[in-house]
Amino acid sequence: MKINSPQFNLMHKACMKASKILIRDFGEIEKLQVSEKSPGDFVTASDKRVEKVLMKELEKSEYSFLTEESGSIDGKYKDKRWIIDPIDGTFNFLNGLPHFAISLAYEENGEIISGIIYDPIKDEMFGAHKGSGAYLNNTRMRVSNKSEFRNSCLVTGGPKSTSKIKEAILDEYKKVSLKTNSHIRKSGSAALDLAYVAAGRYDGYWQREINYWDIAAGIILIKESGGFINPIKEKDFMGKKIDIVATNSKIHEDLTNLL
Ligand code: IPD
Ligand code: CA
Ligand code: CA
Repeated sequence: MKINSPQFNLMHKACMKASKILIRDFGEIEKLQVSEKSPGDFVTASDKRVEKVLMKELEKSEYSFLTEESGSIDGKYKDKRWIIDPIDGTFNFLNGLPHFAISLAYEENGEIISGIIYDPIKDEMFGAHKGSGAYLNNTRMRVSNKSEFRNSCLVTGGPKSTSKIKEAILDEYKKVSLKTNSHIRKSGSAALDLAYVAAGRYDGYWQREINYWDIAAGIILIKESGGFINPIKEKDFMGKKIDIVATNSKIHEDLTNLL
């Protein structure tokens, strides 16, 4: 990957180590002990193992952490944070569907500076660093060029079974569907959805009630590949259950107007 920053290099190293465990566990999926955190939100033993390996490598920096499994942890440096989702796409993973990723981001003073989303099964690493561009493995990525909304390839996710606005989310899905030729996908991994918009595979993505760790790395990928990303109503991306939209920029207005 043609990005060279100390933080990016450390994330890369941590990711390559952790992905070995992830690949091994995916091969042994039946043997995994699964515990249920809340309906629709499973955490596997593998999730915890992967996060531990990532944190062990990254904690050498003495930065703080925000992770899905461990929450907020203060390091020596409070203004520098690693944001981790060890497995994004857990439900796919549990079902033996090869579409999930490790998502790692580096945040400084509340701004995402670097991000990596790594799909270990396809060996696709999506990476970006502020001012250095976005890459898929060693190739520079750009968002798609499509401007015709009706023909755009969109992706979304949710609602979770625990959502209190399930009906509204499904109604919105219907509303958007009727304005397109129904090229709407649901992949089960928000991190990969954003990475794919950055790579020009999808033209747009939106989702209600998403968490910061699901999208942190994706934010810099979208920005550095020429796309637009913003919260729909919140003032920033931080926090839990926020609503976001990300596109190739050309269909941004059309999609935003429907949400
Ligand atoms: C989930 C995935 C999914 C999205 C959910 C997320 P997890 O993350 O990104 O695509 O629809 O909202 O919670 O639980 O697999 O890490
Ligand atoms: Ca996630
Ligand atoms: Ca996860």
